[in-house]
Formats: sequence, C-alpha cells, structure tokens
Amino acid sequence: MQLVIVSDITRRKLDYINVTLILKMCGIFGYKGKKGALNTILTGLKRLEYRGYDSWGVSSLKKGKISVAKKVGAIGDIKVLEREDNAVIGIGHTRWATHGGVTKVNAHPHYASDKSFVLAQNGIVENYQNLKRRLAARGYKFISETDTEIIVRLIEDELKRSKGLQKAIIWAFKKLQGRNTIILLTKAGRIFAVRNGSPLVVGVGKDEIFIASDTLSFADKTDDVIFVDNLEMVVLDDEGVNIFRVSDGKRRKYKLQKLDHRDVSIDKAGFPHYMLKEIVEQKHTVREAVQYSIEELKGLMKSIKSAKNVYTVGSGTASFAAGQIAYFLRKYASIPAVELKAYEVDSYKQLFQKNDLIIAVSQSGETADTIEAIDAAKAREAKVASIVNMVGSSIPRMSDYPFFTRSGPEICVVSTKAFTSQVAWGLLLAFSVAGKHKFVKRSIEEFSKKLEKYFNEDLFKNIRKLAKELLRKEHIFVLGREQNYYMSLEGALKLKETAYKHAEGFASGELKHGVIALIEKRTPVFVIVSEDDVKDDLLSAAAEVKARGAWVIGISSKNNELFDNFIPTVDAGIADPIAKVITFQLLAYYLAVELGNTPDKPRNLAKSVTVK
Ligand code: M6R
Repeated sequence: MQLVIVSDITRRKLDYINVTLILKMCGIFGYKGKKGALNTILTGLKRLEYRGYDSWGVSSLKKGKISVAKKVGAIGDIKVLEREDNAVIGIGHTRWATHGGVTKVNAHPHYASDKSFVLAQNGIVENYQNLKRRLAARGYKFISETDTEIIVRLIEDELKRSKGLQKAIIWAFKKLQGRNTIILLTKAGRIFAVRNGSPLVVGVGKDEIFIASDTLSFADKTDDVIFVDNLEMVVLDDEGVNIFRVSDGKRRKYKLQKLDHRDVSIDKAGFPHYMLKEIVEQKHTVREAVQYSIEELKGLMKSIKSAKNVYTVGSGTASFAAGQIAYFLRKYASIPAVELKAYEVDSYKQLFQKNDLIIAVSQSGETADTIEAIDAAKAREAKVASIVNMVGSSIPRMSDYPFFTRSGPEICVVSTKAFTSQVAWGLLLAFSVAGKHKFVKRSIEEFSKKLEKYFNEDLFKNIRKLAKELLRKEHIFVLGREQNYYMSLEGALKLKETAYKHAEGFASGELKHGVIALIEKRTPVFVIVSEDDVKDDLLSAAAEVKARGAWVIGISSKNNELFDNFIPTVDAGIADPIAKVITFQLLAYYLAVELGNTPDKPRNLAKSVTVK
C-alpha cells in the first residue's frame, strides 16, 4: 500500500492550552486488511479497554452493508456477534460514559440515518446543546442521549450541501468545540478519522492498516507507525493511508516511524487479576527502569545542572512519583527541585523561564493535565524531560529528553508497577547527578533480588488477613515522613481507588497540627518506618496516636512494641520507599477482592485521563 501523509502542526484551530477541557476517556480502533476485521478490532479494543470499560461496539462492512453490534459491560467474545469473520474493514469503540447513561443505545458507533456511515468519538462535544437545538429545529431526530450523535446528524445535514463526505466531515468537525477525535466507517469501504486533542495513531502492517487511540492496541501486529497530529484527517482507502490537514485540505509526505515495543503481552499470566500480576512484576520492572547508561543520561544531567529552576510535574499517582523524584534530587544531588501539580498549571505557568527544566512523569504519556503543563513550559521556552511508560505516546514526543520506564503494559487501571518504576528512575537520576551511577544501579539490582523472595504466599496471606480485619473500617490514616511522605499519599490513594475507603496520607509532622483530632478508639493508622534518620520521629508519632486509642499498623523491616500489627517489608536501602508502598498496593488489592470490588477496573475511573 502506498503511503502519502499530509500534516500541519503550525496552524492549529485549538491547542491544549486554549481548549476548555472536560473529563472523558474512550478508545477507538479501526482496521482495513485482508480478512478477520471483527476479530482484529475486538483484540484491539481489549487492549484499549483501560481507556473506558462501561460499554463497547464494533462495526464492519460486508457486501456493501454496514453492521453494528453493541454491548454493555466488559468487552466480550466476537463469536457472540458473528460466526464467520470475513469482513476486511471495520471500526470499534470502548466507552467511558459522559453524556448519556451506560446503555446499548448510547454505545458507539452511531449510524447515519440512511446507514451510509457509522461514527464513534473519543472526546466531548462541549457545544452539543446548541448544536442539538439547531439540528432539532431542522427536523433531526436523536436516538441516543450522546453528544456523539450530534456529529453524525451534523455531517448528514452538511451532506445535503457539501460535495462529498470528506468535505462534510471537515465542515462538521470545525463546528465542534472541545477535544474530539472521531472515526467513521463508510458504505463505500473507507475509514475517515480526525484528531483534535485525544490521541490518534496509524499502524502500518503487511497488507493491513490500523487506526487507534494508542500504539499498544496494535503492538502485537506492527511496529511501523504514523503519529497523527491535531487537526489532521486520516483517510484510509484502497490506495492506502492519506492524511489531510483540516484547515485547508492540503497534504504532505511523511515517513513511517519504528517503535520499540519490548513486552507487549497483555495476558494475566495465571494471576486472578492484572493488579496482582503487575504488583508481583515489580521484582523485575524496578530493574528495567534503571537500565539507562550514564551516556544516555548525560544530556538531561547537564540540563539539570544548568537549569535555573527544576520542576517535576504529574497527575494523580504520577504526581506522587514526581514529588518523590524532586525529593531525591534535593536529598541526594542537592538540586533544588520542586514538584508542581500538573492540574494547577494556571497558577504558576507565568513563572516558567527559558532556562528552566521540567520533568514530566506519566504512565500513559497522554494525561491532558500533564500535557497542558508541558505546553505551558514549552511556550516559555523551558526544556522538557519525561519519564513515561507508553512507548509512542504524546509526552515523549513533546520532550527534549524522553525516557521510558520500560515496565511493559500496565493494564490495571490502578497504577502500581509504573509508579515504582518512576520512583526507581528518579533514584537513578538523582544518584547519577551526584556521581554515583554505579552505586544506584547496584542498589536497585540488589533490591530486585530481595523482592524475588519477598513475594510469597506467606506475605499474601498476612496482608489478606489484615485486609479482612480492615473491611468495616471507613477511615484509614497513613503516616510517612521524608522519603516515605509521598508513599503515604500514594498508599492512601491505592486504598481509595480499589477499596473505596476514606484513606488519608500525612506527613507525620502534620499530626500535632490538627490531624490528631481525627484519631478515635481503633482508628487504623499505618506508620511507615524506614531505618533512616526520621525513624524515631515516626515511632513517636505511633506512640502519640496509640495513646489516643489508635490501632497502629507498622510497615517496616523491623517490628516494634508500638505496633499492634506488623507487615514486614524488605530493608531496601535507598529503594526503601518502593519496598514500603508495595504493602499498600497488596493491601488495596486484597481489600478490593474481599469487598467484592473489581481491582482491575474500579468504579468511575479510567486509566488514561486524556481530557480534563
Ligand atoms: O498516565 P498517567 O500516569 O499520566 O496518569 C496519571 C493519573 O491519572 C493516574 O496516575 C491515576 O491517578 C491512577 N488512577 C493511579 O492509580
């Protein structure tokens, strides 16, 4: 197939900074090949399920007729849909509901009235109410409650005037406000996709082409990819892939890029859930994250040393890793690094300067808040480094110094191994800046070996027993300090995400300034104690809460008489924060299991928050 690609990144209608963003995550997947379109789309959607998992739909073309099958719930077996999969072209969508409830009717793709095309969207039409009112006044009827159906009707309406579908799609697309990436399958055997905000990538295999929300969804099929920029339209037909810019319809040639996908397997490898599998995988993934040579780190180290200000940014769990990385840089390399919350960028973006460096932390590489912070830094000519897990995602492509955690796909919506890899990479960076590159690598290597033995049935039983004892507790507190401060925040977040418990992480120093008022008889308080300079402070905090009736649970490599319960951890030296947070990951997992929650897909969450 011939490849002609056209793009324009200079004339954007909208950019990440200017758009009013709303939360929405979905996954789209398109396929054109020789046969087996439905199976390929289904496999792709399963790999995209982390982006949304309340309902899904697939659509294919056979004998000039477009069929649509939709379901509520997890992505199922294609055989339910069709016995023989002879289709050569089709599209699919996995949904995380925003406009309209979780129903089959609201699932994508949505038919045109005459069934000449179907359309699916990853994004939100922010002006959908206005558009819907106008379309309704013109006599259009709506079957679903979604904002996406408005795009379908807009295109239909414009088709009455425009010469051809391509022009009608572009016209309609320009009427949309927000971040909308759409994909269409037509009766004529073509796929159109237009990107604004939410990611879109094309994979080119032998006699087959994929269009999807990420490269992981087709990573088992091809490494050759084309990244679609904002406000570009991809047209996939018998001639191959063409990309047009939305602004003026022009195109330009483009070369395929090769992606290095190391571990792309996404099976549970015998574990009951991805979460447990990914927690146990940390015995290897922490090591993978520190494989960079001093040569590979040189550019970033130079930039850190010469930067006026060094900031780290991220969102959610990644923001805690960002905080930990800044802590390591201060503590071990005397670099005055500061963590900033990506979603608070409006409050500090005016402070970015030319000689600043920001280190962005992200598993997905697609988090809208983090991208917005990067855009703000770049707008003021600051340098950007990133530590990301997803190869081929947006953040590394925006970075002057892109680094990868190399943890392999993290499928569980709750981040575990990506977080500890980010922290391990932070150690590598800080100690390398301090001239101790060999030491940090050796330390993580030893820690990884200790973890091999640490993950065993006794540990799992012990933590599961504690989970059972905590089942009816509604408020849980986690105290940490210095190297374990961010671990207390992350530990508490894990418990919130999977057990839906109110859990709060605090610096133990905060206790006397107010938090201690919350302590009642049998309030569970976790105390994270490392063999470090602040050990005694933590033990004092344990004594203070215990004196007020708290149930003290020690997370430490050594037991102590103050602990009512004790979960032993590996004594991990510089990697101790990682050793400590693993306990909370396991506890969160077993609490979810005991409560009957779904640890891999907690309620209301999606893995990749691609819009705000
Ligand atoms: O893909 P990112 O690491 O940028 O995602 C950031 C957060 O959305 C993410 O860490 C979130 O907090 C997870 N639910 C954590 O388990």
